[in-house]
Amino acid sequence: MSRIVYLNGEYMPEEEAKISIFDRGFVMGDAVYEVTSVLGGKILEFEGHMTRLERSMRELEMTCALTREEWLAIHHELVARNNIDEGLVYLQVSRGNAGDRDFHYPPEGTPPTVVLYTQAKPNLANDPKAEVGIKVISLPDLRWHRRDIKTVQLLYPSMAKMAAEAAGKNDAWFVEDGAVTEGSSNNVYIVKGNKIITRQLSTDILHGITRASLLTYAAEAQMEIEERPFTIAEAQEADEAFFTSASAFVMPVVEVDGVAVADGKVGRVAKRLREIYLEESLKRAV
Ligand code: PDD
Repeated sequence: MSRIVYLNGEYMPEEEAKISIFDRGFVMGDAVYEVTSVLGGKILEFEGHMTRLERSMRELEMTCALTREEWLAIHHELVARNNIDEGLVYLQVSRGNAGDRDFHYPPEGTPPTVVLYTQAKPNLANDPKAEVGIKVISLPDLRWHRRDIKTVQLLYPSMAKMAAEAAGKNDAWFVEDGAVTEGSSNNVYIVKGNKIITRQLSTDILHGITRASLLTYAAEAQMEIEERPFTIAEAQEADEAFFTSASAFVMPVVEVDGVAVADGKVGRVAKRLREIYLEESLKRAV
């Protein structure tokens, strides 16, 4: 099935979208990205994703002339043209075609490469995995140390997902200095007593858009939140565990490194937070 994609100001069939072999994203991983979810044909958390995109570009001294209105119009156009009811919009901005391989940034005025495309995911909201929970393994966090910038340097997360699958599990949690940082492509949480525990924001983790909203909704629902690092042992002894991301919302985790979390079943808090998150973010979808 051929999609209509967006490349540098134009809409075209995916087979026609071509970028240079000298593109900084391809040669240097010099690109930032966002993944935004679509439910009922509407975009969730648009402002949050745009704020983080602008921040990622600012941190890397990257520029792009598109305004938020233009970004939103592109999202809407792609969703409409590809008839997306449930799915994702992938957006990537690279530092553009440098004309040759060079460690220096290309001269000012070099246009960025801007790519957006949709991914249809028919069961995004009613994901059967959310009914049974997923199983994770832990791995040392070998990623670079500016994980707060959403760059496309995804080789290690990709290796981690392959290692988890090879171990017969669904995902991996990264560990650094004895504490969990985050999942391979998500933010992670445990529940102990009436407390939701999740690592505090820093350059060690990506500042999840889903995380920010979830913590707001949890606080509104009178749930107690503690932002601090936790260990794999704590996760294994917790009442519940879960992760959040734009591509999975709130996903229960029922096993960590072969040890069942509580009774190994999806917990009440994760289930409720998934419902609240979907309900609240759909209300605000654009
Ligand atoms: N990943 N941490 C990492 C390392 C991530 O890659 C992601 C998202 C998150 C959650 O952020 P958000 O709630 O804004 O989606 C945390 C996206 C979904 C991906 O790479 O496909």
